[in-house]
Amino acid sequence: MAGKIRITTIQKMKQDGQKIAMLTAYDYPMARILDMAGIEIILVGDSVGSVALGYGNTVPVTMADMIHHCQAVRRGVTNSLVVGDMPFMSYKISQKQAMTNATRLVQRGGVEAVKMEGGGEIVPIIQTMVQAGIPVMGHVGLTPQSIHQLGGYRIQGRDDEAATKLLNDAQRLEAAGVFALVIEAVPEEVGKTITGALRIPTIGIGAGRGCDGQVLVLGDFLGLTFGKVPRFAKKYADLQQIIGNAVEQYIREVREGHFPDETHHY
Ligand code: KIV
Repeated sequence: MAGKIRITTIQKMKQDGQKIAMLTAYDYPMARILDMAGIEIILVGDSVGSVALGYGNTVPVTMADMIHHCQAVRRGVTNSLVVGDMPFMSYKISQKQAMTNATRLVQRGGVEAVKMEGGGEIVPIIQTMVQAGIPVMGHVGLTPQSIHQLGGYRIQGRDDEAATKLLNDAQRLEAAGVFALVIEAVPEEVGKTITGALRIPTIGIGAGRGCDGQVLVLGDFLGLTFGKVPRFAKKYADLQQIIGNAVEQYIREVREGHFPDETHHY
């Protein structure tokens, strides 16, 4: 995709039957690499908590963390659409709080859209933001900010009742004005049904092949995740190994006096 990607580009891609590629990023160099490679959407996810800040989940991530990382990503991006996650409890206390925080993410963080986890219960907040000119991406299915409520990272929408509720939530979010919808960790059939029922694009993560696009968390994608990685996450590179090998070589060369060599000194 050449040129600047906007929310209208993303929506047209669905109409044209073109798949959408999205990845997360949290800092300047990664954002630059993803942007130059031509990714359509960069999400500054609250997954920054586990990928870059060493937390066990996304709950401790604050607005200050998000603004800091959004600014770094923004500086690295020319063409990709930059979306920033509204972190835990930054939009559920009151409409005023939600609007204030979304404004900070757009104005200070430099993102072009915000993402919020939730179903029908966040419809009024979405409507207010969209009316005020802030594009919103929805997120249904497994919503990691509710990990304590959900009792762990589990596949959602497994029985008919749960799948119907997900479809209903997705339709309500579309009617409220979200420009795209992340669907996380649901059976492939559920992802496909929701995608077929919506005009807006769906971006799946563990939601099967029927979605309009796919997103992966950069740490899983690059092999930088410590501990358990979800089954749906494909590792496209093993940076843990590459970086580890480089550091071991450096240590050896320093100890043995091979670095600096002839070319690496003044
Ligand atoms: O924070 C994040 O990385 C996300 C993705 C899982 C979509 O919300």
